[in-house]
Amino acid sequence: MKEQTLEQTLIENGDELPSNHSDNATFAAIVERRFSRRSLLRGSFNAAILGAFTASSAAALARPAFLPPQAGARPPFGLTGNISFDPVPVSKADEVLLPTGYTGTPFLPWGEPICGHYPDYIDGGLNSGEDQECQIGMHHDGMHYFPLGKGDESNRHGLLCMNHEYIDQPKLHPNGATLVGGVRTVVDEVRKEVAAHGVSVVEIKEVVHGEWEVVRGPYNRRITAGTPMEISGPVRGSDLVKTLYSPNGTRARGTINNCAHGYTPWGTYLTCEENWAGYFVNRTGRPREHARYGVPTTNSRYRWDTVDHIDEYARFNASALGASAVEDYRNEPNTQGWIVEIDPFDPTSTPKKRTALGRFAHEGVVFAPVQNGQPLAFYSGDDAANEYIYKFVTRERYNANRINRDILDHGTLYVAVFHDDGTGEWRALDIEDAAFRAAAQAAGVEFKDQADVLVNTRLAADIVGATKMDRPEWGAVHPQTNEVYFTLTNNSGRGGANNPVDAANPRANNQFGQIIRWREQGNRPWALTFNWDLFVLAGPNDDSQVLPAQNGPALNDDNRFASPDGLWIDNSGILWIQTDMGGGQQRVEQDRMGNNAMLAANPYTGDIRRFLVGPLGQEVTGVITTPNSRTMFVNFQHPGESGETFPEVASNWPDGGNARARSGTLIITRDDGGVIGT
Ligand code: FEO
Ligand code: CA
Ligand code: CA
Repeated sequence: MKEQTLEQTLIENGDELPSNHSDNATFAAIVERRFSRRSLLRGSFNAAILGAFTASSAAALARPAFLPPQAGARPPFGLTGNISFDPVPVSKADEVLLPTGYTGTPFLPWGEPICGHYPDYIDGGLNSGEDQECQIGMHHDGMHYFPLGKGDESNRHGLLCMNHEYIDQPKLHPNGATLVGGVRTVVDEVRKEVAAHGVSVVEIKEVVHGEWEVVRGPYNRRITAGTPMEISGPVRGSDLVKTLYSPNGTRARGTINNCAHGYTPWGTYLTCEENWAGYFVNRTGRPREHARYGVPTTNSRYRWDTVDHIDEYARFNASALGASAVEDYRNEPNTQGWIVEIDPFDPTSTPKKRTALGRFAHEGVVFAPVQNGQPLAFYSGDDAANEYIYKFVTRERYNANRINRDILDHGTLYVAVFHDDGTGEWRALDIEDAAFRAAAQAAGVEFKDQADVLVNTRLAADIVGATKMDRPEWGAVHPQTNEVYFTLTNNSGRGGANNPVDAANPRANNQFGQIIRWREQGNRPWALTFNWDLFVLAGPNDDSQVLPAQNGPALNDDNRFASPDGLWIDNSGILWIQTDMGGGQQRVEQDRMGNNAMLAANPYTGDIRRFLVGPLGQEVTGVITTPNSRTMFVNFQHPGESGETFPEVASNWPDGGNARARSGTLIITRDDGGVIGT
């Protein structure tokens, strides 16, 4: 069947089917008719009154001074965004291409031992589930480098935290997943799959410039799809997260499909749960908090739930099997879809699901430059076709001298509306907000409390008339201008009756994606209005444009790209763009676009150059540098994915020969020791 083929293809690539069937045009019209723009602007921000500060809870291990660039502080380099390397060409070879004068060294591939009994990686999928719990996970994604030590030591020694988004069963096991009559009969395979997900925290040290090693120290840790976590914020204790495992709704197990990431000004790591819905199944009728997110009704993606004699796996069956919610796992999917805070400096800490930031397919999260004495603002995209971009503003003001480690538990979640005239507004999803309550009433939607709003974030955003976007992926905030950039990766369904083209999503059947950017009113990250434009419409030479509002040029042989995904602005002000063409698009576009790549852009001038091309079948995702910008870490996810079916994307990176391809990190340095990209 056609649908099955599409579903299979999407699952193959780790994505999910669109589930936004709302008619926002109608909701938006109702909202606009009933409430003037002014009343919406008054919104709930009046409630953002300075709250009481609580003292920081002491971290277990020494926390180095690690702060993002402060407002008014002199940046480490002139933030010109200037790039000066010679661009690399499009390539479809199973190798890494870097500009002349740069060297790339593979590091921390899937299976690298980092903790416990440090089991060696064995090619052929031969490691056990227990081994995987002590090794780097599969499918590297967002990552951050937390320096250890002071001065130049911080450039040579640190903690690398990275996400492991999903798995490639044909490579994880000797012969793929064992499925007998639809049931997972080899329990250790499931244990291994659970362990291959999540996050790795690993202490690393430079040996010589460009070569690093794992330090076998106390920080190293694997967090998996089974690690116990705390539910924090407004949803803690809600009926909607009570389960057999946690009858009082305060705890949950695991984090899944961790795509992009974030970090906080106080030196913790944020991991984001993206395409989690498909890991569950509900065969007894889906409540709205399952249906709006696409929890399947027939089978879960990996069928972990079929190991139903083991509670840790049985919980992926979200059907109502018991007499009440505390006797089964009907609420288990409600414990996923959050942003999770992990303290990498305290290996015994319990990760916290920060529910105030909303529940959706979080791609990643980025914060606006910190202004001491002001609220913090965090941006996060919901990566599915026709979903939205959100902003969370803390209730309490940030005080660098007295950090409230639970500041993410209180605040207001907003969703973005992009008007065609280049203005935009943030609409509050807050049950205390009069405009929000009125919008809910007008739409005939009821929320019991703020926990109900947050568990149903997508529905809350539907009813205030949020703008349906072309799959929001990563965001980046310019450390000097506060300008926010977001990738919109593609949307083949754009142009339908419920999601017509608009100025922010201007192409029907959008195959190539675009990068949007905005500036908050008055340069205040907590503002309720903003101005936006498009930075680039990605695509081939005859269907692309840089800075379209300024009538910029089309992309060319040196910089064309498709499906932008990863995004980051470094200490030099360079915007790094990473691409994620799915398997189907890679096969179709191989001659024109080559393998997935990373480009560098000057946000001021629109100068864009291809910096790196990765091996076959992978996507480039995750990028960070040491504080001095002279060592860069980049992740390649799923090299050779689908190579079993499509030999043209088969890969043996990084081991070569006939070895199975492995996701891994690439360490990039300049041969003259200079700053990357400049
Ligand atoms: Fe996991 Fe949206 O990429
Ligand atoms: Ca991504
Ligand atoms: Ca993607």
